[in-house]
Amino acid sequence: MTELAENLPATTPLDGNGRSTLFTAARTANSFAPTPVGDDELREIWELAKWAPTAANTQPLRVLFVRTEEGRDRLVRHMADGNKEKTASAPAVAVLAVDTRFHEHIPALLPFRPELADVFATNDEMRSSTGSFNSALQAGYFILAVRALGLAAGPMAGFDSDGVDAEFFADGRWKSILVVNIGHPGENPWFDRLPRLDPADSTRWA
Ligand SMILES: Cc1cc2nc3c(=O)[nH]c(=O)nc-3n(C[C@H](O)[C@H](O)[C@H](O)COP(=O)(O)O)c2cc1C
Repeated sequence: MTELAENLPATTPLDGNGRSTLFTAARTANSFAPTPVGDDELREIWELAKWAPTAANTQPLRVLFVRTEEGRDRLVRHMADGNKEKTASAPAVAVLAVDTRFHEHIPALLPFRPELADVFATNDEMRSSTGSFNSALQAGYFILAVRALGLAAGPMAGFDSDGVDAEFFADGRWKSILVVNIGHPGENPWFDRLPRLDPADSTRWA
């Protein structure tokens, strides 16, 4: 398990290897080798991702780790046809979900302002928009945490979220937002790299 790195400055730059593992050389995997991914590695992904920031420390993302054959079969049924094979070949899969009642944890997570829980409890629009925005942020952190462990991620929005929710989250509290295949790249794992926007088109300066 990763310990808090209390003896290291929190702003040490990553070297080129670290940057390529997370960003420049990292790719979205479409096929996976049979090499297993252990439960300890899956726990470690969350041990990293959980530290990245959310608004008012709300942390609305929840994770269902699917790594048994039976669990994967139940999930594959709800994937879009073009995604079924990818999920079937992944040694582990994470179903990322938003906790629609994330605000109930606020007294513990934001102890200096516990009354914010009541604000969210009585404002459906604010609760929903905060939950969606921050769970999506955390989904991005999750993908980077997968990469930080030297594993490849295959995020997919192409699935029947109502079907997944009925299958795995029948009490209605968690709502699925993204499925992430996790493993070591298999045969022909990547599509050709797609272009990224030029900074001239995607950034402005003031
Ligand atoms: C939110 C999200 C949803 C995605 N949904 C799908 C999907 O349903 N099926 C799929 O094959 N790829 C899906 N992708 C993969 C993207 O197409 C891929 O990450 C992107 O083209 C970048 O590829 P690269 O990392 O290899 O450069 C998704 C990615 C993200 C982040």
